[in-house]
Amino acid sequence: MTRNDDPSHENRFATIAVGATENAMHPHKGGTNDVIPPIHLSSTFEWASGDDANEHDYSRESNPTRAALEEQLARLEGGEHGLAFASGMAAISTTMLSLVPPGGHLVSSDSLYSGTEKLLTELVAGHFGVDVEFVDAREPENVAAAVDSETDLIWAETPTNPLLRLCDIRSIADIADDHDVPFGVDSTFASPYFQAPLELGADIVVHSTTKYLNGHSDSIGGAVITDDDAVFEKLAFSQRIGLGNMLSPFDCYLVGRGIKTLPARMEHHQENAMAVARLLEGHERVARVHYPGLESHPQHDLAAEQMSGYSGMLSFEFDGTLTEIEAFVAGLEMFTPGASLGGVESLVEVPSLMIPDEVSHGSATAAVPDNLVRMSVGIEHVDDLCEDVRTALP
Ligand SMILES: Cc1ncc(COP(=O)(O)O)c(C=O)c1O
Repeated sequence: MTRNDDPSHENRFATIAVGATENAMHPHKGGTNDVIPPIHLSSTFEWASGDDANEHDYSRESNPTRAALEEQLARLEGGEHGLAFASGMAAISTTMLSLVPPGGHLVSSDSLYSGTEKLLTELVAGHFGVDVEFVDAREPENVAAAVDSETDLIWAETPTNPLLRLCDIRSIADIADDHDVPFGVDSTFASPYFQAPLELGADIVVHSTTKYLNGHSDSIGGAVITDDDAVFEKLAFSQRIGLGNMLSPFDCYLVGRGIKTLPARMEHHQENAMAVARLLEGHERVARVHYPGLESHPQHDLAAEQMSGYSGMLSFEFDGTLTEIEAFVAGLEMFTPGASLGGVESLVEVPSLMIPDEVSHGSATAAVPDNLVRMSVGIEHVDDLCEDVRTALP
């Protein structure tokens, strides 16, 4: 059952996605009859007092286009507050630096996007002196053992980039509640369509909107959604007054436009990824496929329980040399080699070849095997994608 079919939802997901903004639902509110809300580029707004006072003064602090997107993001995640950032990393760093004081304690899952890992080791720990403890969050007991009364934040990514590991959001949220510690989840790989961390008890959800939310590989952005008023106030202060790392009006428009087709795109991403995953699983030169939708994924049951679908990201371990992997990538026509993910077009990345300096070899964080190939499966015709992979494999 996807979030679209969930009868407990006040509004069906696809309906929220298409018409979520106040402006979009009440097009005449702004004094014009646009069906699509205009992009407000003004950096400043004419000052007025009393009954005529403005909702917006200066666009770093608030802007009508951004406010509409933030409301849309909050509704998609079933949360109270949304904030739109200049990138996924801006969303993550602002959350961590606002909630964890210098010298504080942060417990994080050890399988993470390499940028988040670098942020934690180089900046949060290295510069701000935070005690960052990485744990294998696939087992909630490991999180429980690391958290104490001094912990300021629990952080997890699920599913993780690029190993597609999961953590049990509900169990970790219970641990966080017991210690009164905020729990943040990077839900980028699932998108709001397939996973609702706030409903499972998390306090904060983060997305790189660069990926599925925008969905067209033409905007860099990030989002934070939370139900916690105190967390929201801290983050909003950091973003609007201190750091100034908000999303531009034009990018807000692009992400808002992308969201309208999120449910339709995610269904196709998932269908195609499942077909490619099954094909890979059956190939003799593929040692292991990491896709939560496969019964062979060690956390498939958890995925089926806490996600309403398995999204479009997979990785696999190629049984061969790096030269053979390079030849496989070169042989693909439908999958463009490159960083990023979540766009309508298929992409392939080999971390050890393409981002060697960022690949974890596993001291504190989970090792990424050199023979790992990551695929962001797009929404092209499934037969073309499968044929392409079949032809490129040795
Ligand atoms: C899971 C995850 N979180 C965060 C980010 C960072 O997002 P951005 O590139 O928009 O800063 C990425 C980027 O790949 C990611 O995969």
